[in-house]
Amino acid sequence: MSNQHLPSLAPSLVGEWIVLASEQEFVQQQQIKTRLDGHNLTIQQDIIHAEKVYQIRFDALDIAPSDIAVQAAYGFVWLCIGTEKKPLFQLQEYDVAAARRVPCGAYGVRTSPLRGIENFLDMAHFPYVHTGILGAEPETAVKPYQVEWREEVDEIWATECFFTQPLAAPSSPQPQETEYVYRVASPLNAILYKVNTAAEGIIPADVVCLFIQPLSETHIRAHLLMILDDQTSSITDMVLFQQKIFTQDKPILENHLPLKLPLEKLEIPTKADALATAYRKWLIAKNWSYGVHQNTQREHVA
Ligand SMILES: [Fe+2]
Repeated sequence: MSNQHLPSLAPSLVGEWIVLASEQEFVQQQQIKTRLDGHNLTIQQDIIHAEKVYQIRFDALDIAPSDIAVQAAYGFVWLCIGTEKKPLFQLQEYDVAAARRVPCGAYGVRTSPLRGIENFLDMAHFPYVHTGILGAEPETAVKPYQVEWREEVDEIWATECFFTQPLAAPSSPQPQETEYVYRVASPLNAILYKVNTAAEGIIPADVVCLFIQPLSETHIRAHLLMILDDQTSSITDMVLFQQKIFTQDKPILENHLPLKLPLEKLEIPTKADALATAYRKWLIAKNWSYGVHQNTQREHVA
């Protein structure tokens, strides 16, 4: 089918794999109601031949069932409307049996999906927003790092990112220089690899994933997943660690105006912004418009 015949969903979202729920949300119930781009929908979980199968039904969006693809992956339910632009990204660490898979819940945030991702990619805010955990003064400088567009998978990667952190992970014994690798797997999905020197080497790095569910252009559910090489911390401690960090980010995001992301200009771009700049250029190259602030636009908050 042609994606051009689906005017009801924002064009940028057609063909994208988009997260809608964590499979954990189905522990107590077979159905959950949620939203995508302002459209209410129901996700139904059935067990067929011992396999969990999900079906999605929109309340008032005229889409043929054959145009809706659904899959469960990495503990989440994903939707793609229309022809996929590319397959859902690979996350090999999720399949490593000894690694701890820790879904950390979903956070409602009044911001655009793109600001949610951009904030996740930004190391410069660590000492100011996550003081004493992910950063602290006077170690505020972001050292130069490498950014590349990996054309074969259409992803943006930043490597050789180093930051001195007081408490890099729940199991960190002391401050450490932490090495990060950032991966933007699609416009709404970003993954952070954090080399954990205290770890036992089950996976090369701890993994923190941010999957954005766009409720509207200015309201998101941010789903977080961690995959950790940590055999000692309790699940509760690991979830609380991530919750604490995200709770610090939420008010910053909600006060960042405009809520939508202007793509054309970065205030005063510095070397620290190389990844954000690459992300914005990549969105421009894709003709991406969802959650983008136009200079002439008065912001309507949905
Ligand atoms: Fe943050």
